[in-house]
Amino acid sequence: MKKVITYGTFDLLHEGHYRLLERAKALGDYLIVGVTSEAYDKARGKLNVIDSLATRIENVRKTGFADEIIVEESHGQKVQDVKKYKIDIFTVGSDWTGTFDYMKDYCQVVYLERTKNISSTMLRVQNKRIQRIGIIGTGRIAERFVPEAKLVSGITTQGCYNPHVESAKRFAERWEIEAYEDIESFYGAMDAVYIASPHETHYAYIKSALEHGKHVLCEKPMVLKAAQAEELFRYARAHELILFEGIKTAYCPGFNKLLGVACSGIIGSIRNVEVCFTKLENPDNRELTDRKYGGSLTELGSYVMLPILKLFGENYEEIRFDVIRGENGLDLFTKISASYANGIATATCGLGVKSEGRLLIAGTKGYMIAEAPWWKTSYFEVHYENPLEVEKYSERFLGEGLRYEISDFLSMINGRNSSEFKLTRSESVALADIMEKFLKAEGRAEK
Ligand code: CTP
Repeated sequence: MKKVITYGTFDLLHEGHYRLLERAKALGDYLIVGVTSEAYDKARGKLNVIDSLATRIENVRKTGFADEIIVEESHGQKVQDVKKYKIDIFTVGSDWTGTFDYMKDYCQVVYLERTKNISSTMLRVQNKRIQRIGIIGTGRIAERFVPEAKLVSGITTQGCYNPHVESAKRFAERWEIEAYEDIESFYGAMDAVYIASPHETHYAYIKSALEHGKHVLCEKPMVLKAAQAEELFRYARAHELILFEGIKTAYCPGFNKLLGVACSGIIGSIRNVEVCFTKLENPDNRELTDRKYGGSLTELGSYVMLPILKLFGENYEEIRFDVIRGENGLDLFTKISASYANGIATATCGLGVKSEGRLLIAGTKGYMIAEAPWWKTSYFEVHYENPLEVEKYSERFLGEGLRYEISDFLSMINGRNSSEFKLTRSESVALADIMEKFLKAEGRAEK
């Protein structure tokens, strides 16, 4: 019996897939089809797959060509499968010509001609109109957005707006997008906006974008007052718009894996979380000169509070801030201590003091540790009483990592809410509340 194997995502199953499976089956007597898992697609940067794994498997099954369907979960699985299932022929479409030549050491490799003018990518674009996104604020953070957004299919960066017209023009030229001088025409050309302006301007921009019927992805900290966050979420919900706080860590695969392991019970009940993120900042930058909204907590507090809120929840009993201030009064280094009924947490952030940035989660049976940059989690360990017993986990983190949040934002616009749990509205409100409490304690609260 001649055994054939092929692999693919088979998203939105189309004629190209059907014809490939038909010919793959005809190459032998028994066809095994490997369908990629969701986690594997995310890890290799294939974002925005629409159908769930179950649907994709079901669609492959319905073609009637597959004698067996398996799940492809990781890079390097193919060779193992060929050996395990005693495969004679490995086949894929001609878009992969050359890529799998290394498999020739194990079986015959056949590249089948790809069906022209059809792909899942094309269908995604046709089904869900491309979302045009515009950037408000054209500073350093926005620079990272454009190349990352290019990697997410279904979204295109249309243009930018900045009241400092010269800055907008320079940005637009660099990224070959359009600069809008007038905010009305900017909104008119967009389906969604990405807000990367200074913190204190977020509220007004979010409000006006929502009032113009636009979905909003806003940089952290989304707003600096709990009531503002509540009001904006309420408005967005009532008008069926997505309002999404962009804390990239919340959406990256490694951090989500870490949370899953932490909550799985293997380290027992979680009792202590210690987390730190410091970034030495140029003293002339806005972060260290804006006496009202600058400083380490407004800049980095969203990152360090994230694992605490995710693991212990929003209902802390007490919260306290210890601060080292610079000459201009801004916090160069801040320690947030939060106590919960069953645990304690400390979050440290700094712009003018350097420390070891790590995330430590301690439980009744063991502890987990992710070293810097844990906010771009790609590796973590689980330790137990016996120091020799260590479990190691890794996950890819691609590029700047903004692609994950952009992809989840887009999924939500397209009506899929499966990422909503990664950063809930009430967690965003809790973060705004912490910012508000801190600014009040520092005597910097707005009138
Ligand atoms: N395929 C094909 N003809 C097409 C599209 C895909 O023969 N028009 C083949 C691919 O070469 C691969 C298999 O179908 O062997 C599964 O491909 P997959 O990546 O799932 O499909 P695409 O439509 O190429 O998906 P995407 O646009 O997301 O890359």
